Amino acid sequence: MTTISQADELKVLRLGVNIDHVATIRNARGGRHPDPLRAAHIAIEGGADGITAHLREDRRHISDSDIARLKAELTRPLNLEMAATDEMMAIALRHVPNACCLVPERREERTTEGGLDVLGAQSHLKGVVDRLKQAGIRVSLFIEADLRAIEASAKLGADIVELHTGAYCERALEDDVAGVSHELARLKIGAENAHAAGLEVHAGHGLTYNTVKAVARLPQIVELNIGHFLVGEAIFGGLTAAVQHMRALMAQARREA
Ligand code: PXP
Repeated sequence: MTTISQADELKVLRLGVNIDHVATIRNARGGRHPDPLRAAHIAIEGGADGITAHLREDRRHISDSDIARLKAELTRPLNLEMAATDEMMAIALRHVPNACCLVPERREERTTEGGLDVLGAQSHLKGVVDRLKQAGIRVSLFIEADLRAIEASAKLGADIVELHTGAYCERALEDDVAGVSHELARLKIGAENAHAAGLEVHAGHGLTYNTVKAVARLPQIVELNIGHFLVGEAIFGGLTAAVQHMRALMAQARREA
């Protein structure tokens, strides 16, 4: 039976705003404008519960000094997305963000295309997870909503799994109704399994005003990380309005759930 406190716990839904693509625009011309830290402050004022930034091996958007400034100045938790490499581990241990989300990274990809190969890389990931946790950093693994990946994540001692919503959002963009319901069912079962395995459940990638509500309705999910769409919308109506509108849709979906 679900007790009241468990029911309340299931209602919480945080928004992490990913500011990578503010840095993408800055880097298109070099220099300092637009500043991702300023965007992070505005996102927090607009209702973001945390800020996410992905420091990639090729530094195509977020830079090392962005991470240092975000960590030093943010008033909300910083979630550092990174590959599980020695270089990134050293950076994480230097700055000690609130959380590290381990993601797969291939140089030639445009964005993070799939979930981590948790099963194939178990022994390597175990060392990374342990060292980050020993430093007091919460560890999240960005995975597909796949039972074996969820079980392996729990076994590795991860605190969190972030379920990859990319395939669901792709099907939605293609107006593939059957594909959307298949992907949503996969996310629903994944969220249930991850919660049952004792993992905190997050989700993200490719979410928009049109796709966020179906994911926000899944009660086990406590955080959504959203970036590209919000930064794109900010061009038309400002970042504050974009964050506020996304938050309102999330809250509405949660009330309806
Ligand atoms: N979560 C993770 C783990 C990601 O890698 C990304 C993209 O950097 C996001 C969420 C945000 O995705 P998007 O920018 O498409 O909203």
